[in-house]
This record gives sequence, C-alpha cells and structure tokens, in this order.
Amino acid sequence: MDDQHGILMEAINALRLALVSGAGRERISELLDEFIEFARMHFWSEEQLMAQTGFAGLEEHRADHHRMLADLLQYAHRLQYGEEVQLRPLLCSLHNGFLHHIETLDQKYVPWFHEHGVS
Ligand SMILES: [Fe+2]
Ligand SMILES: [Fe+2]
Repeated sequence: MDDQHGILMEAINALRLALVSGAGRERISELLDEFIEFARMHFWSEEQLMAQTGFAGLEEHRADHHRMLADLLQYAHRLQYGEEVQLRPLLCSLHNGFLHHIETLDQKYVPWFHEHGVS
C-alpha cells in the first residue's frame, strides 16, 4: 500500500509539473483520468483487504473513498467539457485531500493489517 501511495503522490506531482510547464487542458485532463483510474484501483485494493480481514472501520473508510472519487470525477467532467476550472487550486486541494486521507484514515488500518499478515 505504501508503494501505491507513493505512486499516487507522484501522479499528483506529475500533474503539477505539467501545469507549470504550460501543458494544455487536454493533457491535464488525460493525466487526471489516469490518476483517477489508479486511485480507483488503489481504493478497491484497500477495501478488499479490509473486507477480507474484517476491519471495523471499513464503512467509514469506504465512504471517504467514495467522496474523493466523486469529487475527482466531477472535476474531470468539468475539465473535459471545457468548463472553467481553476487548475492550481484544484491540484492543491487534490494533494492536500489525498495526503490527509493517507495520514489519517489509511493509518488506522496499518496495525490491523500488520496483525493479519498483510503488508
Ligand atoms: Fe490509501
Ligand atoms: Fe484509503
């Protein structure tokens, strides 16, 4: 999971770099779609492991994943249809939102997974 978190944060950095280097809306939209696909896969993996090991915080955790994914999809949709989206604040809130989730909710399962032999 730590590896996947690293990949997620790197993908957000790639988006920031693309923005700073003047990439167009289309490229940003493409990178955002890739990010969403990876995030979806990552959320699913976590939820599977929590379900398999009977982790009590699964529902709360799943709800936060859903909320993040819904936000992401809404941004992606707006970008795709050329609606006005402030990209810098978007990336900033994406970065902070993911970091916050990883440092709070994701940390809650770490000892539990460890006890259950999941690394
Ligand atoms: Fe995570
Ligand atoms: Fe999570």
